Amino acid sequence: MDSMASKPREATGSDLSEQIKAATKDVHVRAENTQLMLNYQKGLITQTQYKLLLCSLYEIYRALEDELDRNAAHPAVQPVYFPQELARLEALERDLEHFFGPHWRTRITVPAATHRYTQRLREIGKSSPGLLVAHAYTRYLGDLSGGQVLGKITQKSLGLSGNSGVSFFLFPGVTSPNRFKQLYRSRMNSIELTEQQRRDVLDEATTAFELNIEVFDDLQKLLSITEEASSEKGNDATSKTLSKTFSSSPALQLALAVGITMATVAMGVYAF
Ligand code: HEM
Repeated sequence: MDSMASKPREATGSDLSEQIKAATKDVHVRAENTQLMLNYQKGLITQTQYKLLLCSLYEIYRALEDELDRNAAHPAVQPVYFPQELARLEALERDLEHFFGPHWRTRITVPAATHRYTQRLREIGKSSPGLLVAHAYTRYLGDLSGGQVLGKITQKSLGLSGNSGVSFFLFPGVTSPNRFKQLYRSRMNSIELTEQQRRDVLDEATTAFELNIEVFDDLQKLLSITEEASSEKGNDATSKTLSKTFSSSPALQLALAVGITMATVAMGVYAF
C-alpha cells in the first residue's frame, strides 16, 4: 500500500463502498462539471471529440486491465476481479477499428494527462496492487452509472446505428447494472483492510477521479486549440483540423500532436 497522507473526511458507515462514495462525492461533481462532460450531457459531442476520447480510454483501460490481470490473485483484487463482465479493452478496440479502420493502432493520439494516468496505474500495479480497487471502482462503476446515459447520448449525437462504435458503453455480461453494482459493492466490502490501507484506498479513489478530470481538461484544451487554429485559418469546423490529424500520415500526425502538446505546455497547462 502507498503511504499517502490521509485527509479528513466524513465517516458514513464502516463499509468501504459507502466510504468511497462519500469520499469521492465532491470530486464526482467536479468531474460531471468539466467542460467536456457538460458538453457531452448537452449532446454536443462530435465524432472528432468522441474519437479523441476513445483513444485516451483505450490507453487507460489497457493499463488498468493489464494491472488487474497481473494482480488477479492479490487478496485486495481477487474479490473485485470481473474480467468477463467488465473488461473494456476489446470493446474499445472494436470501436477504434470502426472509426479509424484496420490500422487504428497507428492512429492513437493522447494528451499528457492520459500518460500520467496510465503511469499511475502501472506504478501502483507494481508497488501497491491493493490500491487498484480504487481505480477499478472509479472507472467501472462510473461506466455502469452515468456512463450508460453517455452511451445513449453518443449514439444519438453521432447518428450511430446498432452497436457500431459504441461497444465501450455496452456490457453484454451484465444483465442488470444496478444489481451488478450491488454485487460489486459487497465484494469491495469483503476486502480485508487495515485502517491505514482503507485510508489509502479512499485517497487513491479521489486521485483516480482527479486523473480523469485532468484527462478531460486536456482533451478539451486540445480541441479548443485546434478550434482556434482552424478559425484563424478561416476553417469553419473544429472537426476538420482534428479529422485531418487523424487521417493524415503518421509523420504529420506526430508533428501535429507534438505541436499541440507544445502549445499547451507553453501555456503552462502541464505541471510535472
Ligand atoms: C456526465 C458526467 C456524469 C454523470 C451525469 C454521472 C452520473 C452519475 C450518476 C447519476 C450516478 C449514480 C448512479 C446510482 O446511484 O446508481 C453516478 C455514479 C457514479 N459515477 Fe458518475 N457521472 C458522470 C461522470 C462520472 C465520471 C467522469 C466518473 C469517473 C471517472 C464517474 C464515476 C462514478 C462512480 C464511481 C459512480 C458510483 C458511485 C457509487 O455508487 O459508489 N462518473 N454517476
